[in-house]
Amino acid sequence: MLTVSAPAKIILFGEHAVVYRQPALAVPVSSLRAAATITPGERFQIIALGKNVTPEHALMIMARSVAEFFNAKLPDVTIDLTSQIPLASGLGSGAAVAAAVGRAVALVLGRSITDEDLNRLVFEIERLHHGTPSGIDNTVIVYEKPVYFVRDNPIELLSIGKPLHIIIADTGKTALTRVAVGDVRKLYEANREQIEPVIEAIGDIAQKARKALETGDWMTLGTLANQNHVLLQQLTVSSPELDKLVDAACDAGALGAKLSGGGRGGNMIALVTEETMQSVHDALIKAGAVRVMQTILE
Ligand code: PMV
Repeated sequence: MLTVSAPAKIILFGEHAVVYRQPALAVPVSSLRAAATITPGERFQIIALGKNVTPEHALMIMARSVAEFFNAKLPDVTIDLTSQIPLASGLGSGAAVAAAVGRAVALVLGRSITDEDLNRLVFEIERLHHGTPSGIDNTVIVYEKPVYFVRDNPIELLSIGKPLHIIIADTGKTALTRVAVGDVRKLYEANREQIEPVIEAIGDIAQKARKALETGDWMTLGTLANQNHVLLQQLTVSSPELDKLVDAACDAGALGAKLSGGGRGGNMIALVTEETMQSVHDALIKAGAVRVMQTILE
């Protein structure tokens, strides 16, 4: 029995604006993973979260694309997928399961797939889910490194000045990224003079945040997170639940907080110190978070 896996991710800065070629920063969450376990079988099949996957399913398309990439047939194995990553909540579960399946198929075929090739194939699957993804999710998940990402540009890895404590809290409400991205597009097209500056301001924040991350300037980083959240509200991708969690985190002493990912539900992040971690954690639970996790970025 063999197992391969891929991590969850969070977007620190720049979601939505990244679709319009503004920079964004994202980091893997290595403690939260999707895993693919391979066992011998009579034919190729994928069991995802306990259910047999149909031939038209995106994960089957992923498996076939990896086999085709190596000019091979799908091997006679069962790939059993499990995931600790909540679905449709901004943590990249779709890209993570696709990456895990891709790695599993390559492994069984006895081939090694580069991150670059896997990233390209997972991006195609993201297109099936999202329509017009920027590519940030698949990139951070496949490379499993903090990235500074600009659509269609080579990836730049982020360096982190000193360890940063992040709390991730789930509203418990799922929301489709595709819908949020589509609504922002409609808003942009209907009201370009107002929305373009908002998107540019988010890009500007992402650039400043990169510097603050590199130098370990957490006060500035927190302020930038708060500013980014306000701009995301203007893009209509926050929600009352997300706003409540962001406010609760800030009131409890977080350096800053914002929604993370597609929004309208899903997760938010709070930047904290070791001293404020517990109080922010407790405040988020009290404000209705259904799940609160901590991760250290280093
Ligand atoms: O909701 P998630 O984690 O899939 O994040 C989507 C990020 C967006 O910027 C909203 C869309 C994209 O394709 O980059």
